[in-house]
Amino acid sequence: MGERKEKRPAEVAAIRLGLDLGVTLIDTAEMYGEGGAEEVIGEAVAGRRSEVFLVSKVYPHNATRRGTVAACERSLRRLKTDRLDLYLLHWRGRVPLAETLEAFESLRSAGKILEYGVSNFDAPDLIEASGQRYGDRIATDQVLYNLMHRGVEWDVLPWCRARGVPVMAYSPIEQGAMLDLAGLKSVASRRGITPAQVALAWLLHQRDTIVIPKASDAVHVRENLGTLDVTLDEQDRADLEHAFPPPEGKVSLDMK
Ligand SMILES: NC(=O)c1ccc[n+]([C@@H]2O[C@H](COP(=O)([O-])OP(=O)(O)OC[C@H]3O[C@@H](n4cnc5c(N)ncnc54)[C@H](OP(=O)(O)O)[C@@H]3O)[C@@H](O)[C@H]2O)c1
Repeated sequence: MGERKEKRPAEVAAIRLGLDLGVTLIDTAEMYGEGGAEEVIGEAVAGRRSEVFLVSKVYPHNATRRGTVAACERSLRRLKTDRLDLYLLHWRGRVPLAETLEAFESLRSAGKILEYGVSNFDAPDLIEASGQRYGDRIATDQVLYNLMHRGVEWDVLPWCRARGVPVMAYSPIEQGAMLDLAGLKSVASRRGITPAQVALAWLLHQRDTIVIPKASDAVHVRENLGTLDVTLDEQDRADLEHAFPPPEGKVSLDMK
C-alpha cells in the first residue's frame, strides 16, 4: 500500500472496512512505499487509533542509537499518532544489535513505543539478541511463515514458544502465489471455502502465531476475515501435512 497515489482512496477504504469487521492489528514499515503506506494508514485510522494495535518497522540502516529514534518520530508523524504499539527492526543489518535495543528501550521509556521486537531473525540471531541488554524484552519475531515455508518450525518457533514470545507470520498466502496449488484447492473444495481461507486457517491453528495477511481489495478483506469462522478438522490438517510437509531438517530462514 501507499505506492501509487491513485490507489490511495481504495486502500484507505480497505483498511477502514477491516476495522469495521473487527481487525485489530495493522502492520506496516517505514520501507513500504517509502513512508507512503504509513500515510495511508494514518488517514485510515484517524479518529479510530484506540481500536488498533499499530506495528511499524525501522530500516536496518536507520537502526543506530539516534537513527532509530529519528525514524520512529518520522513514522509517528506519517501515522498521525503519538505512539506505536510495537516497533520492529525490519531485518538484521550492520548496526550492532545492542545499539538498536538501547534506542528501542529509550523510545519505550518515552512512551513513543509500547513494545519492541525483531523481524526476519533466524534462531542464531534471536539467541544473540536475547543475550544483549534489553534483549529479554523482545516481544516478537516477524517471519515468513506459511504452508510453503515451514522451516521456522525447526527452531525459531520452538525458541519463541519456550519464552512466551509470539511469532508474526507474514506473507501468509505467499503473496497469492499458493492459491492455485492442488493441495490447497482440494481441501478448499471439500470444505466449501476458498484456498486463501484454508491457508490462513492452518496458520491460525498454530499456537502463539499472529497472522497478518494484506488485502486492499474489499472482497479479499471480507474473505480473509471469514477465516475466523473456519476450523480445520483432522482430515484437513492431515491432507495439508501431506501436501506441504515441513523441511526434514534445519534450513536457513526464508525472507520475502
Ligand atoms: N517483515 C517483513 O520482512 C515482511 C515481508 C513481507 C510482508 N510483511 C508484512 O506481511 C503482510 C502480508 O504479507 P504480503 O503482502 O507479502 O503477502 P500476503 O498477505 O501473503 O499476500 C498479499 C497478496 O495477496 C492478495 N490477497 C489477499 N487476500 C486474498 C484472497 N483472499 N484471495 C486472493 N488474493 C488475496 C492481495 O491482493 P489485494 O491487495 O489486491 O487484496 C495481495 O496481492 C504485509 O502487508 C506486511 O505488512 C512483512
